[in-house]
Amino acid sequence: MNVFLADEAATTAFGRQFLSVLPEELAGWTVLLSGELGAGKSTFARAVIMAAGHNGPVPSPTYTLVEPYLLPRGVIYHIDLYRVSSEEELRYLGWSELDDGLRLVEWPDRAPGLSATADLELLLAYEGDGRRAELEGLNERGVALVERLMQS
Ligand SMILES: Nc1ncnc2c1ncn2[C@@H]1O[C@H](COP(=O)(O)OP(=O)(O)OP(=O)(O)O)[C@@H](O)[C@H]1O
Ligand SMILES: [Mg+2]
Repeated sequence: MNVFLADEAATTAFGRQFLSVLPEELAGWTVLLSGELGAGKSTFARAVIMAAGHNGPVPSPTYTLVEPYLLPRGVIYHIDLYRVSSEEELRYLGWSELDDGLRLVEWPDRAPGLSATADLELLLAYEGDGRRAELEGLNERGVALVERLMQS
């Protein structure tokens, strides 16, 4: 799925629409958010988290690595691997303890092998004053979700 997001509001609306096609139970889903610095990964994550019922700030997890949000449909883990530079730091993250939630992962390329277990990858790229978003299902349920999103 390929869409042009003209401004920040469009990215936010896309995040909201994305959440609406996820199953009620968010646990166990992993979404990779790729794209260069400032491409809009955090904007998308913030939109999903707010649409799921969070009121308040959504700080960047660049230093904490993970910010958890306890919401009515389950936990959302906003993860940013930008500063991760070694396998050891990744172990410190305690990845397996994040199974009970929806994982939104910025800079997923820092964790080789993550795409093998993820459901979806959103690739954001600069295009003029806006952004181009390409959403790809990485497994069967991810592909089905993209189908639902295109029909929604
Ligand atoms: N569709 C869009 N068109 C134009 N600007 C946008 C769009 N989506 C988000 N932005 C803007 O891009 C800027 C960077 O956004 P954001 O912080 O979400 O990027 P990021 O990919 O998370 O960056 P980083 O790699 O530093 O984590 C923000 O000022 C945001 O308002
Ligand atoms: Mg970010």
